[in-house]
Amino acid sequence: MSEHKIIRLGHHGDGIAEGPVFAPMTLPGELVSGTVDGTALKDVRIVTPSSDRVAAPCRHFKACGGCQLQHANDDFVAQWKADVVRHALSAHDLSPDIRETITSPAQSRQRATLAVKRTKSGAMVGFHGRASDTLVEVPECQLIDPKIKASFGILKELAIIGASRKAPLAATVTVSLDGLDVSVQGGKPLDGPLRAGLAQLCDATGLTRLTWGDEVVAMRTPPRHAFGSAFVAPPAGTFLQATAHGAHALQTLVREAVGSAKRVADLFAGCGTFSLPLAERSEVHAVEGDKGMIAALDHGWRFATGLKPITHEVRDLFRRPLLPDELKRFEAVVLDPPRAGAADQVAEILKADVPVLAYVSCNPVTFARDAAQLAGAGYVLEWVQPVDQFRWSSHVELASRFVKT
Ligand SMILES: C[S@@+](CC[C@H](N)C(=O)[O-])C[C@H]1O[C@@H](n2cnc3c(N)ncnc32)[C@H](O)[C@@H]1O
Repeated sequence: MSEHKIIRLGHHGDGIAEGPVFAPMTLPGELVSGTVDGTALKDVRIVTPSSDRVAAPCRHFKACGGCQLQHANDDFVAQWKADVVRHALSAHDLSPDIRETITSPAQSRQRATLAVKRTKSGAMVGFHGRASDTLVEVPECQLIDPKIKASFGILKELAIIGASRKAPLAATVTVSLDGLDVSVQGGKPLDGPLRAGLAQLCDATGLTRLTWGDEVVAMRTPPRHAFGSAFVAPPAGTFLQATAHGAHALQTLVREAVGSAKRVADLFAGCGTFSLPLAERSEVHAVEGDKGMIAALDHGWRFATGLKPITHEVRDLFRRPLLPDELKRFEAVVLDPPRAGAADQVAEILKADVPVLAYVSCNPVTFARDAAQLAGAGYVLEWVQPVDQFRWSSHVELASRFVKT
């Protein structure tokens, strides 16, 4: 056993002591003891706790791998996430105004992927354990919407009907306005009896849609989500913001960033999380790589009332970013790329001198890289707003506004 002083948290939320030695569930300033095994500290005991340490709100925290930071108070986590963004930007000599983190409440995750395992006597539902493949049951999970918790019985039924004993199912459950939308990977191949059994289960339990692998096996009604005044039913398994609270915060921030722009391009538009609310005031051109998502966006727009025109395009923005000639007609561009960021698209935006950019990012490192490219071409990063939809995790998201000077 040896004692170690925790200096800082790493990207995965582990405490780091000199060495480096990684100690999970510890906080900066804490004196901890344990046995060093490679770079990991095992059997960690807290000798001197941090004043930011709290009792974990969830009784599953120690065993479950779903959350990393329940042992710290909310202010600490909010500040730590803002600091992750600050450090990523300062590595590129950028020091913008970073606002206070907006954090989604407990039990508000509208989508979760659960592991569901058939057992001798029935089935188990939960998350993978901390640093292990063991399934941990989480009946009192504090993260997910209670409607998702209420679906655990249905998920067990699905495993009993359609899982092999060898591999657990990965069941993604999404709360929609019309009920639960469940998408399952890793199940037995569909055959006649399985298809019939699943359809029957869907009917009996009131699931709005059930997708098995790539196939929708039953749909009572398309599962809708409200984006501003429009309603959209995303294709099964496609991207959706993690909480309705977070989606609303990001929509408000993007609208603030775009300001009074009359013509806006929404790049990496998904199913229209930003395009549809923006169309209440601006004409929008939505560009997205997934055909089904664009079709869902278009359907939502056609059935909404009072929205300005939304044009759209299915396009791979990594291979074929929008070019200066195409960008010149827009007064503002919204960018919300995947974790890789949008270096090539940003390079074209610079050439077009787009006046305003709203950049939403789920990766502070690629965001800072793209921000440096923009700053080098005369864009000012006016503000950055961390948005924490992944409460108690080490994941960091943000919205921001760039203006061409
Ligand atoms: C972070 S999500 C944002 C979606 C949307 N803005 C929202 O808030 O719901 C990123 C989106 O980029 C899309 N995407 C990923 N790679 C792409 C590519 N190469 N070209 C165009 N779109 C892509 C994904 O399908 C996904 O919808």
